[in-house]
Amino acid sequence: MADRLTAAVFASGGGSNLQALLDHQSLDPPWRVGLVVSDREDAGALERAAQAGVATVWVPTRERGPDDVARDTLAALRGAGVDVIFLAGYMKLVPEAVVRAYRGKILNIHPALLPSFGGKGMYGMHVHRAVVASGARITGPTVHLVDEEYDRGPIVAQWPVPVLPGDTPEDVARRVLEAEHRLYPRAADHVCRAIAGGEEPGPLPWPDTRFSMNEHERNTGDQRSGSEDE
Ligand code: GRF
Repeated sequence: MADRLTAAVFASGGGSNLQALLDHQSLDPPWRVGLVVSDREDAGALERAAQAGVATVWVPTRERGPDDVARDTLAALRGAGVDVIFLAGYMKLVPEAVVRAYRGKILNIHPALLPSFGGKGMYGMHVHRAVVASGARITGPTVHLVDEEYDRGPIVAQWPVPVLPGDTPEDVARRVLEAEHRLYPRAADHVCRAIAGGEEPGPLPWPDTRFSMNEHERNTGDQRSGSEDE
């Protein structure tokens, strides 16, 4: 497709969301991953990228100022002709110069329904522990545009996921991650279509925001929720 965008995926960890994005490429989405950026030399995401034949770059951030990190990051992005950025478990704040250069074109996925359970320090299992401790009955991933602060930009897509009685944070983490893998590629398609068409991306009109346990089960294959419907 003529207007396919080149995406960079930023990841610090295992990269299961990166893998979901790479797998989605078989459906010929309006973007292609052209570069994977990590702040960690040993990130599993770099290994996944290498196996998929995608270029990788390690941009260390420890004991380096934001200007240095921004310069190296922007050089890598420009060198690969990157149009859009998908953050997928990237644990660092994106330098302001990069946010400025790609404003409206950086997506992040967060494992809770923002604006709840977000912000500095709310990452990984911290999020799911806080969700379970709060007694919330619904959680789920949020895809949002990135600005200069953690977890704050406009929301593009959310997927409600049930928190069931007796769930541990690990149960919730597993269920939310499954939903992430389905939501992120679709949200990426939606945003890239808007960008390619010169429009502001609005909210993704999918999945159906009407919450239902059966709907959740159909979408994720999660059998545990079946008897709890409505
Ligand atoms: C995901 O839960 C994502 O929401 C968060 O970091 C985690 C990354 O997981 N931002 P993975 O590395 O994609 O498996």
